[in-house]
Amino acid sequence: MDFRVGVVLGSGHGYHGTTGRLVTDLLDLMRARVPGDSLVVDTVLTTELDLGPDCPACLSCMTAGEAACPNFDAAAPARRVMDGADLVIFATPVHSFQISASMKRFIDHFAYLIHRPAYVGRPAVLLSTAAGGGHDAALDYLSTAVRRWGFHTAATLGVNGPGLSRETYRGKVDRALDDIAAKALAAPGQGEPKPSTADLIGFRVAKILVDGGRDEGPVDAAYWDERGWFEAQWWTAQKPPFFANRIAALVEKKIRKGIAEGNADPYRA
Ligand SMILES: Cc1cc2nc3c(=O)[nH]c(=O)nc-3n(C[C@H](O)[C@H](O)[C@H](O)COP(=O)(O)O)c2cc1C
Repeated sequence: MDFRVGVVLGSGHGYHGTTGRLVTDLLDLMRARVPGDSLVVDTVLTTELDLGPDCPACLSCMTAGEAACPNFDAAAPARRVMDGADLVIFATPVHSFQISASMKRFIDHFAYLIHRPAYVGRPAVLLSTAAGGGHDAALDYLSTAVRRWGFHTAATLGVNGPGLSRETYRGKVDRALDDIAAKALAAPGQGEPKPSTADLIGFRVAKILVDGGRDEGPVDAAYWDERGWFEAQWWTAQKPPFFANRIAALVEKKIRKGIAEGNADPYRA
């Protein structure tokens, strides 16, 4: 049986750049672990998506459905890559201590997935490359963003391109990639992991958003109604961990109270 990998590559250098080469290295190691030609790879380059300078920020994807996005057709290759994959690799260079701008533009075009997660149970591998640093912010952001869409991160790796010419560093990267190749191939069979406190809070915050947005459009709420999520504590039937869920419930209560009374605190770092 084929193992289908989707690659969302956020580098303007495509497969010739440092990020693309890291993805290739991982795919080669995965390929070596499966029979014959059974690893099937489908890639989208975020720089090649004809999405204009930015997400139009009309919110029509949320209120009227994703097909109402002016760039719905242009985003179709990315949707196809994610929909058809057993596992998705999201890979980005670090630009100014964050993901690349084209990766961010891609993520913004799928913001409706925060309200209507479509990839619950689907594993992802997150990769970044940099000259020296910024993996933490870039990979944390990427992990949080795709988690809201339903993906769970099976493995993460940040690599400094200049270090790859050093044998010791290269060896460490190769060992990490080999470990990730094994984890990536095993991930689809392992199902959805236990939700963390942050996951459970994310679920409840999405519930508040969708519940509060009924007047703007019925699409989100209908999606939640169909899945019984308004009555649920998590996307899936699995029982959330007790203490994490209690904390999430308290956070939800505080947010709802703040909204109802209008006395929520503005953010001060
Ligand atoms: C606009 C821009 C910003 C960058 N910012 C960072 C940074 O914050 N930290 C870092 O270590 N490297 C930074 N770099 C270097 C790239 O992350 C690094 O060269 C990366 O491996 C390039 O991958 P690519 O060949 O796939 O484009 C930056 C590069 C560019 C073009």
